[in-house]
Amino acid sequence: MAAIKTESTHPYVTAVQEIAIQWLLRNKSPWLHPDFIFYRTKQGRKFKENCDYVHKVAEDIIDKRRREIENADLSSKKYLDFLDILLTAKDENVEGLTKSDIRNEVDTFLFEGHDTTASAISWILYSLAEHPEHQKRCQEEIDRVVSETKSGELEWKDLGKLEYLTLCIKEGMRLHSPVPGVSRVNSHPIQVDGCEIPTGSIILLNFYSLHHNPTVWGEDHMEFKPKRFTKEHSEKRDPFAFCPFSAGPRNCIGQNFAMSEEKVVLATLLQKLSFTLDKEHNVEKVIAAVMRPTDGIKLYVHSR
Ligand code: HEM
Repeated sequence: MAAIKTESTHPYVTAVQEIAIQWLLRNKSPWLHPDFIFYRTKQGRKFKENCDYVHKVAEDIIDKRRREIENADLSSKKYLDFLDILLTAKDENVEGLTKSDIRNEVDTFLFEGHDTTASAISWILYSLAEHPEHQKRCQEEIDRVVSETKSGELEWKDLGKLEYLTLCIKEGMRLHSPVPGVSRVNSHPIQVDGCEIPTGSIILLNFYSLHHNPTVWGEDHMEFKPKRFTKEHSEKRDPFAFCPFSAGPRNCIGQNFAMSEEKVVLATLLQKLSFTLDKEHNVEKVIAAVMRPTDGIKLYVHSR
């Protein structure tokens, strides 16, 4: 497997990327599975150091907010955000969440909130650069929507009007699958096609394969074809054929926010800029916690 180059500015981003790589390498190396071996290796020690750092970032955020809440009247706040709710929640025995409960939730938000959307936006931009005809249609749509606004800028209420861009976003998330898979441990036996999966098995749900199933998506499943997501085509498919945000009770709670973020970032970029591929640069995928390019994605940026 090729090494992944990590270039970023914030140490939190670098630490999360390294954790994902170290986790992947450990997964693929059965001799590193036992803790007492892994944490004695150089990789294991670096993994722990990175985990300690990202936990510290989350703890600092929580402590800062805890102090603010202690010194403020929460009832005067118009909206309580997620962290306010976690810090003030009490169960029927008036017990609050423990420090590690809160930190786990904050960790999930910090990770899920940045690495996933960064991967999705980068891959979609890559596909649009590869397919100028779809990029142009998105730009024409953005220009039309913006020209109809009073401010001359894209407004929140206009995001729903970016229909073609939405098709491209969905097709990009199918083709590249920014979260390629998730895993679960089953708490009871599950029957699949006459085989029993025993309790306590680690089950990997591979969204990338799901999104490339030729019987559903056709033999051209490796091609970028946004029209697959028109109402007419989507209606013919099983709703679980496309699961970029997982499904069921633990699916992504940030999915509406993520779709809006992708539209805002892509529309803002495409309104002012056009992108073309650097054909000299070979882009390959590597499955980590999110889908990454092994050696980055290189695009030429042109003013419109
Ligand atoms: C393109 C962007 C995103 C993708 C593809 C994505 C995908 C996913 C997936 C597949 C899961 C399920 C994980 C599992 O089952 O183990 C998940 C969970 C989650 N996501 Fe996202 N996500 C994205 C953006 C976001 C954003 C922006 C946020 C927050 C602002 C967020 C917050 C969460 C949280 C808190 C969970 C855990 C939910 C739970 O365990 O009940 N995600 N996401």
